[in-house]
Amino acid sequence: MISLAIIGGTGVYDPQMLEGLRTFEVNTRYGSALLSQGSFRGQEVVFLARHGSKHGTPPHKVNYRANIAALLKLGAEKVVATAAVGSLNEKMPPGSMILLEQFLDFTKAREATFFDGGESGVVHSDFTAPYCPEINERLLAAARSAELELQSGAVYVCTEGPRFETPAEIKMFRQLGGDLVGMTNVPEVVLAREAGLCYSTVALSTNFAAGISKTVLTHREVLEMMAENRAKVRCLLKEAIVALAYSRTCTCQSLGSTVPL
Ligand code: HPA
Repeated sequence: MISLAIIGGTGVYDPQMLEGLRTFEVNTRYGSALLSQGSFRGQEVVFLARHGSKHGTPPHKVNYRANIAALLKLGAEKVVATAAVGSLNEKMPPGSMILLEQFLDFTKAREATFFDGGESGVVHSDFTAPYCPEINERLLAAARSAELELQSGAVYVCTEGPRFETPAEIKMFRQLGGDLVGMTNVPEVVLAREAGLCYSTVALSTNFAAGISKTVLTHREVLEMMAENRAKVRCLLKEAIVALAYSRTCTCQSLGSTVPL
């Protein structure tokens, strides 16, 4: 059984640190997911590239349900995801790593639940603490002892994409309390909670968002910034694998329901 899964976002496509890596497909009723499995310092870890290994899948087309169902099927209990984000907060400039704490959902057309009525039932899950507080606490402690800078407490705004935002949208998101903006965390975090998984996201700020940045935004700029900071993210992921080898005592599992696989 595997306890920890890592979902690599933009710029994090391969789990370099894992030994004995093998890649395989997991079929679920929502579709199939391509996963890799290997070990780091004796811990078995599963890795999934959210956008595919060559970034071929845009945010609105990712099969989030198949991905989370596949992790669940393999027995994962904890998930650490990475995400490239734009920043609305001057205290979270490009190059900073931040743990998410809350989200604002501005997605429009995604399969955002395992519980669609009918056979799968109607379930209303609690989202008071969408990101696992126990994982976040341990990641913060691990980052501190490894002398890696990691902020916490961010409010993430999820847009539908794939276009970037207008300055007016960014201004509105700021007024609503958003710190960071991205296109993938919803429904990933939602499905993880529905499934009773512990889920946390390490966001890497790649740019100031539209209208805050003085220049136009490009996907290339995001990729370049991720490439520049990849080593830092990888370092944190290694620390995470070691720090997250514990038996969970949080409430995430009890807040989830039985997902049809
Ligand atoms: N907006 C949305 N998603 C993003 C951004 C952004 O500015 N930067 C990286 N991902």
